[in-house]
Amino acid sequence: MGNGLPTSIIIFGASGDLTRRKLIPSLFNLCRKGRAPKQVRILGYGGTAYTHEAFRAHLEQGIRQFAAFEFQPEQWAAFAETIFYLQGKYDQFADFETLDAEISKLENGADNRIYYMATPPSVYPNIIDLLGATGQLNERSGWRRVVIEKPFGADLASAQSLNRQIHKTLSENQIYRIDHYLGKETVQNILVARFANTIFEPLWNRNYIDHVEITVTEKVGVEHRARFYDSVGVMRDMFQNHLLQLLSLVAMEPPSAFEANALRNEKVKVLASIRPMNIESASKNTVRAQYRGYLQEGGVNLESKTPTFAALKLHVDNWRWQGVPFYLRSGKALKEKLSQIVIQFKEPPHLLFNGANGGPNPNALVLYLQPDEGVHWRFEAKVPDTISETRSVDMEFHYADSFTKTALPEAYERLLLDTISGDASLFTRADEVEAAWGLIDPILEAWDASHQTLDTYEIGSWGPAKADALLARDGRIWTVWNAHTDKK
Ligand code: BG6
Repeated sequence: MGNGLPTSIIIFGASGDLTRRKLIPSLFNLCRKGRAPKQVRILGYGGTAYTHEAFRAHLEQGIRQFAAFEFQPEQWAAFAETIFYLQGKYDQFADFETLDAEISKLENGADNRIYYMATPPSVYPNIIDLLGATGQLNERSGWRRVVIEKPFGADLASAQSLNRQIHKTLSENQIYRIDHYLGKETVQNILVARFANTIFEPLWNRNYIDHVEITVTEKVGVEHRARFYDSVGVMRDMFQNHLLQLLSLVAMEPPSAFEANALRNEKVKVLASIRPMNIESASKNTVRAQYRGYLQEGGVNLESKTPTFAALKLHVDNWRWQGVPFYLRSGKALKEKLSQIVIQFKEPPHLLFNGANGGPNPNALVLYLQPDEGVHWRFEAKVPDTISETRSVDMEFHYADSFTKTALPEAYERLLLDTISGDASLFTRADEVEAAWGLIDPILEAWDASHQTLDTYEIGSWGPAKADALLARDGRIWTVWNAHTDKK
């Protein structure tokens, strides 16, 4: 948008799952809502042989299965006409020349282009090189943007090398590195809660906050991605990106503007303030484990040491957060799908009252990212008809109750729209990705060097006992506080 030209979206790896589960439903919904530019066309590129019609039929099935909105055949028929397919390889110059020729034919003049990498990461460099070599990244006749799916590298060295390689043909402002958590409404709401209100910010520091918990758990195991997952594990799959992004949003200083560089500068500063681990601190402040039965999942190496769960205690060494631990945990095959951030406040300095179960509970602000998206404030109230007993009560905001007319959109909708409008605020910058790897690498190295056996945990539990011990050692427990079940 902006220059008024039509936009072509070229998806590499178009026959894969991401395209039919997320990308096409999101693009379709943007068009239904009238949010996409008037003239947008989509060209799927992949190794599988499809005619345009067969590709459209394959996507239609995906829409019917995965889209959260009602399927309307006439709308789909109109949208499907803007979708095309081209079979090709990712390492053949001639195929990329054909690709350019095909898009040019569809474009019929100047056009903006988005190239979306939905392929395995191993082919990103090839694709970008060939796009450059065939002249497809120069911006003489419209802008060119490249969207890169995670994982961005497998460690710091590979992320740096990938950055170097893509910077040869692209400038940083043409690159959109996706972390789909940043596309979630509730994740963006962390910033709104903090910076569109005045009540929280004065308390948002070491003087009032005791600790922060970030939990992103899943009920499902590794499912059909077992082979891939086994090569990455939970740290690369969830912590390097989603959990560290959440931490950055909670801990960052207010940016001067809601603008890509201002925002990302502040996030990078947080990552740079996190105390890196070494072998000794990792053995004390990290927990890793694998769910029982993981080794039997098809595609998993029988002797795999890949963790499917991890918990960390991190320190943010800056003025605001000194001494406030950030506890992070994430894993698969756990009790519930739950993404929540708990800001746990300090106890009152002097206790005047008795809580129902001992002392009064400290206040907590709980940001429920999913499911049952919302925000909860836990505070103490006097139990009626007692002399001075207190009990925790909950002030609740649920998106479903307060925004009844607007369904929460799929994260990819927002991210695709931002790519089209050229707003990279919700995408990770090169230095940010590298800073995150700089924190994850030492932990992985410490684990590799460790002779400790890998713990297991039961499917459907909250993870290994050691994850509880990590907090218990500090006199704390993980908050599992569902307001609905907490009501007595
Ligand atoms: C992806 C991970 O980035 O996030 C998956 O690769 C994980 O393993 C998924 O299941 C979780 O995303 P969400 O949006 O369902 O919380």
